[in-house]
Amino acid sequence: MMKGIFPVEKFRNVQTPFYYYDTKLLRDTLNTITREAGRYEGFQVHYAIKANANEKILPIIREAGLGADCVSGGEIRAALQAGFPADKIVFAGVGKADWEINLGLDNDIFCFNVESVAELEVINGLAEAKGKTARVALRINPDVGAHTHAHITTGRAENKFGISMEQLDAVVDSFPALPHVQLVGLHFHIGSQILDMGDFAALCNRINELQARLATRRIMVEHINVGGGLGIDYQHPNRQPVPDFAAYFACYNKHLRRYGQQTVHFELGRAVVGQCGSLITQVLYIKQGTQKQFAIVDAGMTDLIRPALYQAYHKIENITSERPMEAYDVVGPICESSDVFGKAIDLNGASRHDLLAIRSAGAYGEIMASGYNCRPLPKGYTSDELG
Ligand SMILES: Cc1ncc(COP(=O)(O)O)c(C=O)c1O
Repeated sequence: MMKGIFPVEKFRNVQTPFYYYDTKLLRDTLNTITREAGRYEGFQVHYAIKANANEKILPIIREAGLGADCVSGGEIRAALQAGFPADKIVFAGVGKADWEINLGLDNDIFCFNVESVAELEVINGLAEAKGKTARVALRINPDVGAHTHAHITTGRAENKFGISMEQLDAVVDSFPALPHVQLVGLHFHIGSQILDMGDFAALCNRINELQARLATRRIMVEHINVGGGLGIDYQHPNRQPVPDFAAYFACYNKHLRRYGQQTVHFELGRAVVGQCGSLITQVLYIKQGTQKQFAIVDAGMTDLIRPALYQAYHKIENITSERPMEAYDVVGPICESSDVFGKAIDLNGASRHDLLAIRSAGAYGEIMASGYNCRPLPKGYTSDELG
């Protein structure tokens, strides 16, 4: 039996909670990305591994030809293990440890996205010790706001990320004294779950101003990395399961002024994997409260933390019931009041052992799972395995 996109009978043999990844949707998404980015000369897309590093998912993304955006040594290892070529690996992050920098140097990765002069000096020293020159891009904090949750904006002056526009000249001045780092790019990222193309256009305008300023100093870099951030439709996962990549890439093509053969790099996470994943959980108990009823499920905030962390909305469906709709607070078993997936959610009438799908959970879901309450980590299965 299939209900919607889910092979429910197969699910009955799998220990809940678990993540289910629809690989056909993932491949459709990747095909759209490569087609739409391919319309423009020099557009190169990297996948932000932080969104989901499941070992069955990564090779599918690598096969589509995307590069990898990593924010830790562990992610560099995961990318290499999945077969991403080192010359398509970018390493970002505000606090890179020496061993992580050395890992990047040893593998000759494409570029380090650097966030401070202090970091530049350390990379220079470690590269010198290996007789190498590291390729670096400067992460600039463009002080551009984005219409998204305050916890996932990154490009405002108050955020910890990047080098401010004011400090940029001084940082550029430090390069002649650091012969083991080569400035090859500028890097930006203004936040996540952005659906208003105007935010990306605002970023382009800021980059244009900055490049014009650098041009007066005869500084021109090989590539501009505009980060990621394209959002997905959490309210209606079936309405447009593949995000509007056509509008996204067209926006950058229209608004970003490029110099010479400059390439444009993207680091998309959520938009690549968000809609292909669902967290499948089982109803343990229906509990009648005084004002409401609770569906207590076996998944908790340890398996999917976004609702507790960002008050994020995920659509929830009962995939084993056709009974009339009723309202439930869907809650997990963790000993925290914030362990709530949704309040007053309309579900087909639920009973013990029903399966619920918590949708749009492919990004920042499984990868953020924790063992709090000594719980086992959830496993991830693909539609290739479960049919
Ligand atoms: C530097 C950087 N690049 C890319 C991403 C991926 O963002 P998204 O999943 O919104 O595309 C992030 C997310 O936090 C990031 O910090």
